Amino acid sequence: MRPSLSDYQHLTSGKVRELYRIDDDTLLFVASDRISAFDYILDTEIPDKGRILTAMSVFFFDLVEAPNHLAGPPDDPRIPDEVLGRALVVQQLKMLPIECVARGYLTGSGLIDYQKTGKVCGISLPPDLGEASKFAEPLFTPASKAEIGLHDENITFADVVDQVGTVQANQLRDRTLQIYVQAADHALTKGIIIADTKFEFGSDAHGNLRLADEVFTPDSSRYWPADTYRQGVVQPSFDKQFVRNWLTSPESGWDRYGTQPPPPLPPDIAEATRDRYIEAYERISGLSFSEWIGPTR
Ligand SMILES: Nc1ncnc2c1ncn2[C@@H]1O[C@H](COP(=O)(O)OP(=O)(O)O)[C@@H](O)[C@H]1O
Ligand SMILES: [Mg+2]
Repeated sequence: MRPSLSDYQHLTSGKVRELYRIDDDTLLFVASDRISAFDYILDTEIPDKGRILTAMSVFFFDLVEAPNHLAGPPDDPRIPDEVLGRALVVQQLKMLPIECVARGYLTGSGLIDYQKTGKVCGISLPPDLGEASKFAEPLFTPASKAEIGLHDENITFADVVDQVGTVQANQLRDRTLQIYVQAADHALTKGIIIADTKFEFGSDAHGNLRLADEVFTPDSSRYWPADTYRQGVVQPSFDKQFVRNWLTSPESGWDRYGTQPPPPLPPDIAEATRDRYIEAYERISGLSFSEWIGPTR
């Protein structure tokens, strides 16, 4: 008999995840079906999103060569039935207050930084770059972990050194870039560009760094279809394009620049989004989502 979720102490709710305590050193890391767009958590959930993103994270934890926080398999007997497939048993780590971002391409806050200063996180770049330009080499572009509701702020490598010291700062940068390159190379062979990604690291009881949180999910990374990639234009987001298109269309009746939260999504938009997540998972992993553990919702 598996335990029930109510057997565990609930620790925190993030935007998308819930953390529960299993024992002194172990946590239950649960992904919900919640989705965000334009900085709002939407009222509509995407069926199976938590399971799909958990499957993706597990695939990439497996693919990349780095110590991580997993403390059991996806079917670990400590995982309650009600969250099976979207929960992982993880080592509780002392999380570092730094978002470790790797970027292969210029977009988002990187592009804004670059247009203002010619640099991203203090790294000087050639003058002729624009939206979606590919860097000659991937960049380590750390950010401070902001309080809920605030934006993460880009920081320089020197800021990271100030926070964690030279040894750990070097480790964070080298690991971040190595892990990104490994995963991005793999995804590209499957027709998907991972334009950038964010990791969180924590230190374990022995003081060693481990890759934690989620990895290479569309929530933590930008996925672009490789076949339509073109420098100079905003690339379609692999997962949220239907959601964003609908929210900004007259049909939704929503004013993106107003003060009201977005309306619920129509069922066909939620369904199409679910299909996109499954497509991304299956293309990248070569596995069938129907084989993944847990109840379909
Ligand atoms: N192994 C771990 N030990 C402790 N905390 C962790 C571990 N892995 C991830 N976390 C934390 O769990 C939370 C995940 O919840 P999430 O909904 O993604 O939060 P956020 O809104 O900050 O993205 C994050 O605050 C992350 O730092
Ligand atoms: Mg998170």
